Amino acid sequence: MTSTLTVAQAAALLQSGNLIGFPTETVYGLAARIDQPESLKKIFTTKERPFFDPLIVHVHDVNQARSLTSAWPKAADVLAKKFWPGPLTLVLPKSSLVDSVITSGLETVGIRMPSHPLALELLRTVNVPLAAPSANKFGRTSPTSAEHVRNEFRNSVAVLDGGPCQIGIESTVLRVTEDKGTTVLSLLRPGGVARPQIEDALAKAGLSLRWEESLERSLAPGQMKHHYMPEIPLVWVNNLRLSLTEVTARLTAELQNLPSDVEGVKLRKPTEALAHPQRFELEDDPTLAARALYSRLRDLSHSGADHLVYYHSPDRQGPLWEGILDRLKKAAHLILE
Ligand code: TXA
Ligand code: MG
Repeated sequence: MTSTLTVAQAAALLQSGNLIGFPTETVYGLAARIDQPESLKKIFTTKERPFFDPLIVHVHDVNQARSLTSAWPKAADVLAKKFWPGPLTLVLPKSSLVDSVITSGLETVGIRMPSHPLALELLRTVNVPLAAPSANKFGRTSPTSAEHVRNEFRNSVAVLDGGPCQIGIESTVLRVTEDKGTTVLSLLRPGGVARPQIEDALAKAGLSLRWEESLERSLAPGQMKHHYMPEIPLVWVNNLRLSLTEVTARLTAELQNLPSDVEGVKLRKPTEALAHPQRFELEDDPTLAARALYSRLRDLSHSGADHLVYYHSPDRQGPLWEGILDRLKKAAHLILE
């Protein structure tokens, strides 16, 4: 199989029932056409993803998005007009066009319009929405280059190469409902579009809103404790006075106690005592930190170190850091206070 594709070749492969890797501005996706139930199932088996975790659907315009929904509240319209194409996934009541394999049996569907020019060109060429999760094995670090995708699936998936991803972490996932004229929002996953931007857009449109923070787990099945995990253990350290040697010793001791599987995500545990730490650093600018996050997790997993150590400085906080810190915390095997 050729490893690098043109848009026309990618569309033809999708038409004949294959999955393909494709670039978005957030991370690379693993796509299937939503009118091909067998290909949709192949996404789950290829990723080793449990069927309870729903896929998001990618569209090239608002009309295509609306056709996937059975209700399109004013707030959805405002948010789509403001943030699409871009890193915002709207979770809305689904229409009959959406197979229940995509939504894991839920009555809602996650939809977004990506802004990467090749993604939009592919979506326009195919002219059928594409279901696509991030193109990584379940629970692992998401891919931000075509090479990451090829490596992840050992060259068994052909990839449309759009260069490195500009944003670097997955889209914001926002559930939108209405209650007696008030827009009710749940942030299911923080990402490139931050809360204040969402509030601002709705306020400017004259809509009142409230946030619902703790949604029933069955309505937000993707909120696993561990996710995005690199190949070697990562420790998140809050106590900046702990030395690297102390951190290594604590992790070695704690690893014995960790389960080997949490909510379907396998925790890789080294068999020998850890001896080679590598500091995991992040840029001070959150835009740059997000862009580098996943590729650095991958690169440092192959640098000869046997574990990674991230010292968290408390001045990294606020809406722009929310998505980055969420990913890094879930990527960590252990958090040391
Ligand atoms: O940036 C992104 O969103 C990337 C690119 C490829 O578009 N895609 C992505 O997909 O990150 P995935 O499958 O890795 O993450 C989608 C998240 C999951 O946590 C899933 O549980 C949640 O969205 N989700 C999808 N549909 C949902 C629904 N109907 N209700 C609640 N959560 C949903
Ligand atoms: Mg993912």
